[in-house]
Amino acid sequence: MVYDERREIILLICIQIYLIYHMMCRYRNMTANDYDDIKLNQVDEFKDKIIKLYTWVLNIRKQGKNLAFLSLYDGTAEIQAIAKRNELEDNFDLIEEIYRGASLEIIGKINEDIRAPNGYELKIITLKIIHPSAETYDSEVNHESSVDVKLSKRHIVLRGPKSSSVLRLASHVLKYLRDFFYERGLEEVFPPLITEAQAEGGSEVFELKYFDNTAYLTQSSQLYLEAAIYSLRDVFCILPSYRAEKSRTKRHLTEYRHVEAEFSFANFEYLKDFIEDMIIYIADKVNENDKDILRLWNRELKVPNKPFKRISYSAAIDLLKSEFNIEVPFGEDISDAPERQLVEYFDEPIILEHFPTFMKPFYHKINDENDKITNSADFIFPICGELVGSGERETDLNSMMERMKKMDPPLNYDDYYWYMDLRKYGSVPHSGFGLGLERLIQWLLGLDNVRDVTLFPRTVNRLSP
Ligand code: 4AD
Repeated sequence: MVYDERREIILLICIQIYLIYHMMCRYRNMTANDYDDIKLNQVDEFKDKIIKLYTWVLNIRKQGKNLAFLSLYDGTAEIQAIAKRNELEDNFDLIEEIYRGASLEIIGKINEDIRAPNGYELKIITLKIIHPSAETYDSEVNHESSVDVKLSKRHIVLRGPKSSSVLRLASHVLKYLRDFFYERGLEEVFPPLITEAQAEGGSEVFELKYFDNTAYLTQSSQLYLEAAIYSLRDVFCILPSYRAEKSRTKRHLTEYRHVEAEFSFANFEYLKDFIEDMIIYIADKVNENDKDILRLWNRELKVPNKPFKRISYSAAIDLLKSEFNIEVPFGEDISDAPERQLVEYFDEPIILEHFPTFMKPFYHKINDENDKITNSADFIFPICGELVGSGERETDLNSMMERMKKMDPPLNYDDYYWYMDLRKYGSVPHSGFGLGLERLIQWLLGLDNVRDVTLFPRTVNRLSP
């Protein structure tokens, strides 16, 4: 009996030894291809597992000859990693050749670690340098670098979770915008960016040589959207617009992404209501889906209530005078600082509406009750200032031609023959808006400068990288 039990125990031990030996052999013979190839935003699913990772080195701290701490970022998320000589399969010496910015292939185990920022640490088992990085990386740019150096080295500044979170949010917001437009029955169109005539008039336009003629980079796709409604009823586009403005403010770019829409059979009230719904939809989506990004920027995003506060242009300049002793001559634009005063005064976004007729381009509809004002509205927000420019469009051909003549310089009818045809052949009441995507992201994240929202900003002084 006793003899039999012993025999059984010995047999069990032998089986276990065989299994362990078999597992070790398998593990040794495993190649990089045998592990799940993951992205760092998937670590939750791979807790306690050995994985393969393609990544860049954000930071590396070498401690003596046998230990190194790495911070890795693969374009989706960041993780802290540890490499120990005695645990790394015979290639620990490669650590000496690794500098910030290097790209690596790593096999490692994901361990839970409550001290780590994302709750995990990667224990490196093997590593391969895909492409080394020069030792000079550190001296290229750092926290103390001037704004100008940071902008010149933007291709390097962009690497890492914080800068990339802004670009990621812009990518998400574009999707939310498109989802919202499709839900509301709009179709996307693609107007040309090289134009024969200026959309907004004025001098703020980039000219270019177009074979033997002069052409312009578009300031707005609005006029083409007005033509597209006859084909698709309600339309939108998300394309660059160009402004040759010499403004050196924290919210002006010379090239920006312009989100524009145009609606048929739609009056001024419909327009403002649509824009309010759109902004609330986007802010709700960001609060719901992009909490991590908001947290990274310490941003508590307050969703505005509908209807937004409305104030006419003339009431706004009166209020600036009475409350802040700021004099804005009637007919002049309300500039940055007073605009900010207005938003602070109401402590919420405002709709500044009914600008005087002579202030606005020829296409703005003149108000039915007061021909001195137009059905135009700018949406002014905290942080980014004017976020949306919008209005009902003029449909009366004669009135429009009168105003084209009065513009400075006067507009040439021949350049706008097709736009005038839209009034000649079955025009309808219609309205539309333009929103600066960079300013929207600036407001959503509470960022001080629109440049920080842009992949490679173009401003008066900056054309590179
Ligand atoms: O108010 P704007 O000039 O309106 C138009 O261009 C209309 N034609 C649009 C339309 O109705 N389809 O510009 C619209 C928005 C502004 O509210 C602002 O958000 C953004 O475009 N914007 C700029 N963003 C960054 N840099 C600049 N220089 C900008 N100029 C305008």
